[in-house]
Amino acid sequence: MGKILIANDHGAVELKQRILKHLEGRGFTVENLGVDTEDSVDYPDLAEKACLQYLKGNYDFGILCCGTGIGISISANKVKGIRCALPQDTFAAEMTKKHNNVNFIAFGGRIEYKEPVEKMLDAFIDSPFEGGRHQTRIDKMMALEEK
Ligand code: RB5
Repeated sequence: MGKILIANDHGAVELKQRILKHLEGRGFTVENLGVDTEDSVDYPDLAEKACLQYLKGNYDFGILCCGTGIGISISANKVKGIRCALPQDTFAAEMTKKHNNVNFIAFGGRIEYKEPVEKMLDAFIDSPFEGGRHQTRIDKMMALEEK
């Protein structure tokens, strides 16, 4: 069973706690780098902390949460080597593993999703990367970091 890391700002404390409970219930070890109070913090700082820790290795993937999931996912995608998805539903969560093989997935604590975030996460975790032409596209995507 792999290791996962999670970070969040003050806009997603409750969501982060739900995710932790769910993943620990599934037997994962989750490293919590986020905040646990609603005191205001800056989401780029949390994204940076989580991404740099992830890049040290030995993690399956990372999870980032802010109020919308938008600011923290944009921030993460500025870090070289990080591909962070912000899925809107279970289908997108599944496809972002199958086709994009992202190393980070983001959610919004203030978003009313039509499906539970736990279900979206399970779809992501339990789907395999399909490789082949999708790897070619990911290679092209990551090469954009050099332009
Ligand atoms: C914080 O108020 C909020 O801006 C942040 O959590 C996030 O939604 C930004 O994208």
